[in-house]
Amino acid sequence: MENTYIPFPMKVEKIIDENPDRSLKTFDLSYVNNADKFDYLPGQFCEFSILGKGESPFGIASSPTEKDILKFTVNRTGSVTNEIHYLRIGDIVGIRGPLGNWYPVEKFKGGNIVIIGGGFAFTTLRSLLIYLLENRDDYGEITVIYGARNPDLLIYKEELKIWDKRDDLTLHLTIDTPVDNWKGHCGFVPTITKEVAPDPTSWAVVCGPPIMIKFTLPVLKEIGFPDKKIYTSLERRMKCGIGKCGRCGIGSKYVCIDGPVFSYEELKNIPEAF
Ligand SMILES: Cc1cc2nc3c(=O)[nH]c(=O)nc-3n(C[C@H](O)[C@H](O)[C@H](O)COP(=O)(O)OP(=O)(O)OC[C@H]3O[C@@H](n4cnc5c(N)ncnc54)[C@H](O)[C@@H]3O)c2cc1C
Ligand code: FES
Repeated sequence: MENTYIPFPMKVEKIIDENPDRSLKTFDLSYVNNADKFDYLPGQFCEFSILGKGESPFGIASSPTEKDILKFTVNRTGSVTNEIHYLRIGDIVGIRGPLGNWYPVEKFKGGNIVIIGGGFAFTTLRSLLIYLLENRDDYGEITVIYGARNPDLLIYKEELKIWDKRDDLTLHLTIDTPVDNWKGHCGFVPTITKEVAPDPTSWAVVCGPPIMIKFTLPVLKEIGFPDKKIYTSLERRMKCGIGKCGRCGIGSKYVCIDGPVFSYEELKNIPEAF
């Protein structure tokens, strides 16, 4: 029987520093063995391990349409993420996945979509956005509202410039406080969401720090979004990632198998969710 705790090897192909203080790095990994290649959908995550150092969950930042690579953006915060930041091109890491559920891209078909992100949690939103753009005819208007404390902390800066120029996507970038030469919005993501006032018949996908999610959901409700059309992705401390250890419980659910993607309809009566 297959042991779901055993990771398979992937090779580090590319490392991108996302910000000047080098606390955020994006890793492109390639499969060492073709037999390990897997299908996934935007919103899913993997356990990323370094032999002898430990493993941690990270949202998949690549889109399934980007064949042969898996992309993860890792914020350096503690022991495992420090070790990941020491990786060099050619190093071999361990991956378990894909884990968890995904944004319901089939259900979104034919609808308008608003993607609302904060900070480095934009990872799985990048996966979703690239997927939607690669299947552009299946979806209506796409609006992206993405904020960070300052311009340095926005990730995927080169792609943001490209997305900004596209005429089939509306991109609103925001930073918390004004700086020289900044042409986007200034203000917190919930405030800018209120200003932008996306069409409430759209599907809304919100991912970011808990405080951002907590204050953005009431804004969407005020604009008129129904609970079942708002999706969010939760982060909890995890160990097994497959519903065995009980570490990631919220209410009657486990974030690792019932999530990490949930509709607001599912979460609104679980106070510890936010
Ligand atoms: C489904 C999912 C997807 C994730 N995607 C990403 C991603 O794309 N990029 C990314 O950088 N991180 C992501 N994370 C968070 C990441 O897993 C943790 O930052 C990582 O496990 C920290 O490991 P560490 O050993 O370096 O830190 P530790 O040494 O274990 O902890 C360092 C500090 O971070 C805090 N911390 C650790 N994990 C979490 C957590 N899950 N939530 C809140 N605080 C935490 C600890 O309390 C401590 O203060 C995700 C988490 C989940 C559950
Ligand atoms: S991490 Fe073990 S049950 Fe979710």
